[in-house]
Amino acid sequence: MEKFWSYFYEIYEDIPRQGPGDRESTERALRMLPPLTSGQRILDIGCGSGTQTIDLAGVTAAQIVAVDSHQAFVTELVKRIVDHGLGSRIQTKVGDMNDLVFPDGSFDAIWCEGAIVIITGFAKGLASWRRLLRPGGHMVVSELCWLRDAPPPEVKTFFEAEGADVTDVYSRQKAIVANGYRLVGDFVLPAVGWWDNYYVPLAESLARFKAKHADDPDALAVAQRSQFEIDIYRKYPEHFGYVFFVMKRDETWCAAHA
Ligand SMILES: C[S@@+](CC[C@H](N)C(=O)[O-])C[C@H]1O[C@@H](n2cnc3c(N)ncnc32)[C@H](O)[C@@H]1O
Repeated sequence: MEKFWSYFYEIYEDIPRQGPGDRESTERALRMLPPLTSGQRILDIGCGSGTQTIDLAGVTAAQIVAVDSHQAFVTELVKRIVDHGLGSRIQTKVGDMNDLVFPDGSFDAIWCEGAIVIITGFAKGLASWRRLLRPGGHMVVSELCWLRDAPPPEVKTFFEAEGADVTDVYSRQKAIVANGYRLVGDFVLPAVGWWDNYYVPLAESLARFKAKHADDPDALAVAQRSQFEIDIYRKYPEHFGYVFFVMKRDETWCAAHA
């Protein structure tokens, strides 16, 4: 398994973002929130090498704390922070999203692009991170959803094997309300966020990786897994996608009656 992760990170450290996304969608979600001003704080969970972190700093005036469990991604983000002269605005932390040791009410907004799946359950992420928001604070996540009924078995099997809990948008909306939030709005990430920003650089990274490890079957198997992911999106783009959910912490909610 250790070998798997070492190859996996070699592939994903070589690309500008570690999941589908785009600046326009980050900004679109931000426009659904009241402006985040200089005294306010955003927590960016599973920030990766921080493309959306830098975008958030560009479009808001808030202070940002960006957390990821993988040191090399955080190191890359630190370089970008220096390059953009954002040292006074963004603080980075290597940490585990399952154990975020910040006091209750520390943040005005929580941001999580493409990473809530890791906490193993959209609802679990919403429930456990809620305490970190100040009353009335906002949560923005992008999460994989079925966009049509009856997903193709090939796609379903792939995501199940990956441990991803994929459901339809309506089920996510119900989970949002059940876990103490009001839905402000949602929208589907456009295809540009998958291709131009993610799968095109990933395919280039895979080509370099395969050339370097041409004689190593274990390495080639890791590359094949990523290639398969690209292939199923190419084949079935209308069946699944990332949906941005913009939520506001609901102060009338009572966990006991949810
Ligand atoms: C799909 S990537 C998304 C990265 C980034 N938000 C983006 O959209 O480019 C998921 C990120 O979650 C991080 N991650 C995985 N497990 C984690 C954990 N337990 N705690 C914090 N981050 C974690 C990975 O290192 C990776 O950077």
